[in-house]
Amino acid sequence: MPSHEALAELGASLIAKLLIQKPSAVLGLATGSTPIAIYQRLVKCYQHGELSFQEVTTFNLDEYFGLSPENRHSYSAFMRRELFDHIDIDIKKAYLPTCGGTQNPIDVGEQYEALIANSGGIDLQILGVGSNGHIGFNEPGSSLCSRTRLKTLAESTMADNSRFFGVFDDQPQLAMTMGIGTILESKHALVVASGQQKAKAIKQAIEGPLSSYCPASSLQLHQRVTFIIDEDAASCLSEASYFRLCAKQKDKLTKRFEINRGW
Ligand code: GLP
Repeated sequence: MPSHEALAELGASLIAKLLIQKPSAVLGLATGSTPIAIYQRLVKCYQHGELSFQEVTTFNLDEYFGLSPENRHSYSAFMRRELFDHIDIDIKKAYLPTCGGTQNPIDVGEQYEALIANSGGIDLQILGVGSNGHIGFNEPGSSLCSRTRLKTLAESTMADNSRFFGVFDDQPQLAMTMGIGTILESKHALVVASGQQKAKAIKQAIEGPLSSYCPASSLQLHQRVTFIIDEDAASCLSEASYFRLCAKQKDKLTKRFEINRGW
């Protein structure tokens, strides 16, 4: 993708296409800076009457441990600010793996897994990638079969995310996150990444060895995954010209057969 705007446009259009085909779709949502531009475009589509979220169910990838939804640093608050407050979603069907300090994270994880299963599973999972290759908060070394659980954040993740916290804020070092096994069960995964700081993780995810030390490389096992990345994030890929060729072919075939599958 030539720019972050183009990335957001394509990401939003894939989500919009799904919601038009299946108004009751189950979406897996991500936080972080990268998906914000996608959410802004979805809000515009809703405001223009092109999309409704009334029947949609959402599951967020992760949430800081011990933060209440009212805390402005919580991912619940992030999602309300960036998306939920601006669309017609039924907020009772917008789930996050919230776990207060007195709740047992094992119970919360199991309940979250059951909710996802009872909803029929995630149709489309949006994913950002950490500069260390994490997806959700599955840090390097996370089991490739892991389920929703409590994780200790890596030092590099704490450093990357410190920009969201003020000097007097307590930055949580623990978070609940969907597991890699949970993410791999989504029907379609949409990975969005931009910027040079993601280039190494993207190379390892797409071309590197499958390893729990780059959790995003687990997506090589996913039945259907789409990477939407800008030139900077793609800059370390050895096979970039082949991937560009594949994208062109995919465009042509999609138009010809009017379906959107992996070619
Ligand atoms: C956080 C989130 C991840 C997200 C990552 C990248 O650590 N838990 O789900 O993918 O940030 O964020 P950004 O898009 O800001 O680079």
